Amino acid sequence: MRSVIDILDLSPDELMELIEVAQDIIANPAKYAEACHGKKLATLFFEPSTRTRMSFEAAMYELGGNVISVTGAGTSSAAKGESIADTAKTVSCYVDIIAMRHPKEGSAYVLAKNASVPVINGGDGGHSHPTQTLADLLTIYREKGRFEGLTIGLCGDLKFGRTVHSLIQAMSRYNGNKFVLISPEELKVPSYVKKDVLQQQNIPYVQTTDLEGALPELDILYMTRVQRERFFNEEDYLRLKDSYILNPDKLKNAKPDLAILHPLPRVNEISVAVDQDPRACYFKQVLNGKYMRMALILKLLKEAENEH
Ligand code: NCD
Repeated sequence: MRSVIDILDLSPDELMELIEVAQDIIANPAKYAEACHGKKLATLFFEPSTRTRMSFEAAMYELGGNVISVTGAGTSSAAKGESIADTAKTVSCYVDIIAMRHPKEGSAYVLAKNASVPVINGGDGGHSHPTQTLADLLTIYREKGRFEGLTIGLCGDLKFGRTVHSLIQAMSRYNGNKFVLISPEELKVPSYVKKDVLQQQNIPYVQTTDLEGALPELDILYMTRVQRERFFNEEDYLRLKDSYILNPDKLKNAKPDLAILHPLPRVNEISVAVDQDPRACYFKQVLNGKYMRMALILKLLKEAENEH
């Protein structure tokens, strides 16, 4: 059974196929209005979420399917101590496809191993978040028209930010990209990303603490929130939370065709005044996420049907 736990579970050809389907959905939504008629999606969200859960649910409704959901760790049998494996076997009896978010790294993998329907990882702890990357990729594609030859700045909490890890993995597969990793010393990318992804493939990258110095050379700036919930102590969070605040003044030396992305939620790291800048893409990114989740649900359900 095919599941998507990590962005590398999808080949570059498959990503392109999803982008093409998403663009066709945007152009001809009516064509897809009954595509998942009679199918059910379960959303199991054991961590806070607005966009990811709602966009999965909106995606399934727009495909003519139905949704049942668990939100919050306290409202399901997980609170009684049920294992992820047993949850997988149970939920598989009710639905055709599952999207889950969970605070533990590796939880989506365990769910997929034990489920008899496709599983989509909606974020597993600080590890990965492949469907956010799908939203990011469609946004990059629509803004830049390509995935190659880009200088990509990622700024903020590169240690705990799972969207950062998945996006670096995805963009590392295309030629000619260069990464500028902008973070406080304490929040640098984990070594499995730096060593196993960037260094192993000889991908050019620099690490810096200086956002303003890096800005002029960037084609893409991916801002992120400091991930409060993953900190061991509040003092460190308070010290680091406002390390970077992007504002119109800082953007003066940026390229005119820079694309500013952010997975959201935003806290302080992008001032609201930047929203008026035509280079701000983060709300388009939200919408793109829904279309890519529609394309992914369609693909996984079709593959599951063909397996039977
Ligand atoms: C991200 C996440 O959950 O990792 N949010 C999202 O899904 N768009 C980023 C974040 O919470 O900072």
